Amino acid sequence: MKRIAILTAGGDTPALNATLFGAVQQANELGIEVYGLLKGFDGMISPRLPHVRLNPLFSTIPELDPCQGGTIIGASRTYINSEDKEQLQAVAGRMEKLGVEGLICIGGDGTINGMQPLSEYFPCVLAPKTIDNDLGLNYIDEPNEWIRDENDSIHDGYRHATMRDTVTLSEIVNYVTPGYATAVFVVAQSIERIRTTAESHRRIAIIEVMGRDSGYIALGAAYGQPDMIMIPEVDLDYPKIITRIRELYDMQKHAVIVIGEGVQDAEGQLGAKSQSVDPAGNIKFSGAAERLAEILVTELGDSYFQKNRRHDAAKSAIFTRKIGHTQRGGRPILFDRFYAAQLGGKAVEILNREHNNYLATLNWCPEAGFTLEELSANKLRDQNGIIHAREVHHSLYSEQRFQPSELGRQYFAPIFQNAIGHEDMEAIKCLFSPGNLLTRYQSFNVEMQKRIRFLD
Ligand code: F6P
Repeated sequence: MKRIAILTAGGDTPALNATLFGAVQQANELGIEVYGLLKGFDGMISPRLPHVRLNPLFSTIPELDPCQGGTIIGASRTYINSEDKEQLQAVAGRMEKLGVEGLICIGGDGTINGMQPLSEYFPCVLAPKTIDNDLGLNYIDEPNEWIRDENDSIHDGYRHATMRDTVTLSEIVNYVTPGYATAVFVVAQSIERIRTTAESHRRIAIIEVMGRDSGYIALGAAYGQPDMIMIPEVDLDYPKIITRIRELYDMQKHAVIVIGEGVQDAEGQLGAKSQSVDPAGNIKFSGAAERLAEILVTELGDSYFQKNRRHDAAKSAIFTRKIGHTQRGGRPILFDRFYAAQLGGKAVEILNREHNNYLATLNWCPEAGFTLEELSANKLRDQNGIIHAREVHHSLYSEQRFQPSELGRQYFAPIFQNAIGHEDMEAIKCLFSPGNLLTRYQSFNVEMQKRIRFLD
């Protein structure tokens, strides 16, 4: 291939620039021109197809810094309508006019769905990213376990009917996605900070983390040593939760609880689930921590806290914190930078072989450690053609202890044991650089604006 395009779609992660960087470096080696399309699929819909050459003279532009979070080519949740043949043909025509022979999409499950119709016009390959760590499979035949069930509102009319009891770590397809490690790093640090204030004021903190229906971020939060973790994959059992909270509070006079934003009980999702206003129609989760706080206030009651003057009232003793978008932003830690770049490079290599509708994957086994592989995107789809968010396999979580299981701890070891580099520690010191008081933040959007070109 002589010229390819690349885009970043869906919610951003701290490692997107690192993936772009790895892809462009690989393209430089292969003598391939790389055009960055702006704002995900949104840029393709525009008749002028705004784009940026990311490697003029086969050298990577200086704005592309793998250590910087976000994406210099912008992201959006816009997807091309697969039913709209006219639009698809117009996009294909524009890509041809630009002289592009193939496309790399950096994204998650929504992005694969957006890429699929385009793969009928030119070769497309996905480089994975998502802080949710939900793009992949616990084992290769997992999609066959999903069935259609009109009554299942939680998974939009589908149900994971059976699940194997055990999983071996080397069977996991796409072990971990770029962005996840940094999100866990942010969450674990936040827990440490919230801990000491909850401890001092004898409060119960409920910390809500991202991840939609997937509990990987919540489970990884274990590194911050919360007292209890609740994940969306396991229904909340209130009597058990209350008993454990009482034990903890009686003993240490405070408690720190982490919940995934998509947690549910027997009645369904705890917080509100609403259609977002973005064109992808993504589901937004909100309010799970507040709802759990309300339940605890009622179940524990004022008298529990007033006993022995431990606190004024239940309402003031229980507080919630949503970590929110800090999980998605800022400098990626070493693990993410390194493997994001590797996956970007791998995606270019796959595309250059004209393998269409594939994704680059990062697998792990004890003998070889992490390895880069490829997978046909259809392997992620169930019999109905749906890609389901990967769930935390129940063998990775101990329902009894509200913590990762033995296998869960083993799962985390290869990701996190060397996840932070020396440079990451040095970067922290830069926060108080006197220059920060003198100069304004230099947005990459300003510099990239100067490089944007159009079709005509
Ligand atoms: O999928 C990534 C993610 O960060 C989820 O964890 C979260 O629910 C969602 O995106 C938030 O999306 P937005 O930034 O559009 O509110």
